[in-house]
Amino acid sequence: QEAGESAGLLAGKRVLLTAGPTREAIDPVRYLSNHSSGKMGFALAAAAAKEGADVTLVAGPCELTTPAGVTRVDVVSAQDMHSAVMANLAGQDIFIGCAAVADFRPMNIAEQKMKKQDNQNEMQISLIKNPDILASVAQQEGAPFCVGFAAETENVEAYARKKLAQKGIQLIIANDVSQADVGFNSENNAVIAISASATQHFTINSKTEIANQLIALISSELKT
Ligand code: CTP
Ligand code: CA
Repeated sequence: QEAGESAGLLAGKRVLLTAGPTREAIDPVRYLSNHSSGKMGFALAAAAAKEGADVTLVAGPCELTTPAGVTRVDVVSAQDMHSAVMANLAGQDIFIGCAAVADFRPMNIAEQKMKKQDNQNEMQISLIKNPDILASVAQQEGAPFCVGFAAETENVEAYARKKLAQKGIQLIIANDVSQADVGFNSENNAVIAISASATQHFTINSKTEIANQLIALISSELKT
């Protein structure tokens, strides 16, 4: 190790992450979103920084403290998140898509607060698909090592494997979000890391500890 060079499993590496939910505006006062807390992504950002990486965290709306040494870019919608990721992609070694990106957004955002009509009992909102941030990163020429998360409530491993292949990424972290004590909006997590060549189970632990274990796995996968 040269003088001035930082130590750690990811010393000299650049890591870009997404975390948290996105908010998709319906009108000036309403939005569509989900229960993501952002904790897993923030824990991963902290773990990567601790291992000496230069970390950029693109975060959806969540009230979490920015981990030490991490550059944070705050965004609201999936389209904002997509733009911020693309703007920060050059020179990254690793991309980790941990955000719970809204798959669809309202087709039109009302300029004024939507008013209900007299006797109105139903309403419909048309939605249009958002860009798949992870898949677009993986498709770039000279793409970084790409890691995705798969939030599933059934057929967890099978659906995660399908996402690994369809998005063209190197590693997918499968999360069973049907269990109340792990995953979404919880302090703890239990995950299955799936690559083309190996499957590894990480049993229930704090998100901080799971993040440390996943960063160790990612750094070893990066070397092979
Ligand atoms: N993802 C993304 N952009 C989107 C949707 C998802 O970057 N528009 C990323 C997530 O950050 C995650 C991975 O893709 O790393 C998988 O997200 P998930 O919601 O589990 O899967 P989808 O591909 O959206 O499929 P579905 O929700 O239908 O299961
Ligand atoms: Ca989705």
